[in-house]
Amino acid sequence: MSHNIRIAPSILSADFARLGEEVQAIDAAGCDWIHIDVMDGHFVPNITIGPAVVKALRPHSNKPFDVHLMISPVDQFLEDFAEAGADIISFHPEAGAHPHRTVQTIKALGKQAGLVLNPATPLDTLDYLIEDLDLILVMSVNPGFGGQSFIDTQLRKIEAIRVRIDATGKDIRLEVDGGIDLKTAPQAIAAGADTLVAGTATFKGGPDHYAANISGLRGE
Ligand code: DX5
Ligand code: ZN
Repeated sequence: MSHNIRIAPSILSADFARLGEEVQAIDAAGCDWIHIDVMDGHFVPNITIGPAVVKALRPHSNKPFDVHLMISPVDQFLEDFAEAGADIISFHPEAGAHPHRTVQTIKALGKQAGLVLNPATPLDTLDYLIEDLDLILVMSVNPGFGGQSFIDTQLRKIEAIRVRIDATGKDIRLEVDGGIDLKTAPQAIAAGADTLVAGTATFKGGPDHYAANISGLRGE
């Protein structure tokens, strides 16, 4: 089972003064995707990076850029992130009035579309949307910061979403973001997750540790 697990390090925990080298280092250390947290200081209480940084990082890795947008409104920035080199673009349904339109826009840009569920966002948000999604991202912390503790109630949500994904028969990734470490990674995988975001747990100890950190999260 663990060979199917994808690890997506969140560069929020990287050294921002050396971001290009950090992306090269996690790529060489065997990550699957590069998770990029975009925050606007309005939808979430923190500000991080924008499309110019995504574009600057693009030449540093050929691995998929998994761009997690925590911005509102979101629709007007989708094209910028697509052109900057995003492969997967995920957004929060609370970030705009028309989530279905947002999915359509992402797909029209030729990118994969992900929907992000905050800890208190109900499952029925997936109704009428799930069939059009490439990815569902379960937040196991409230978005805004790295280094927070995993919220255990989200394991039940992961289990319920796994059932719903399997019922569609479609290839929809189930990703978990927040507080993933050597204790919570196996719990999230057992609940049905197939893709793990990890910031703190990937970058701890510096570049010499990235490969071991990533394979540990994979359960190897
Ligand atoms: C939180 C971000 C996460 C965060 C994860 O808003 O979406 O991607 O960086 O960090 P850790 O793995 O440290 O909880
Ligand atoms: Zn994230």
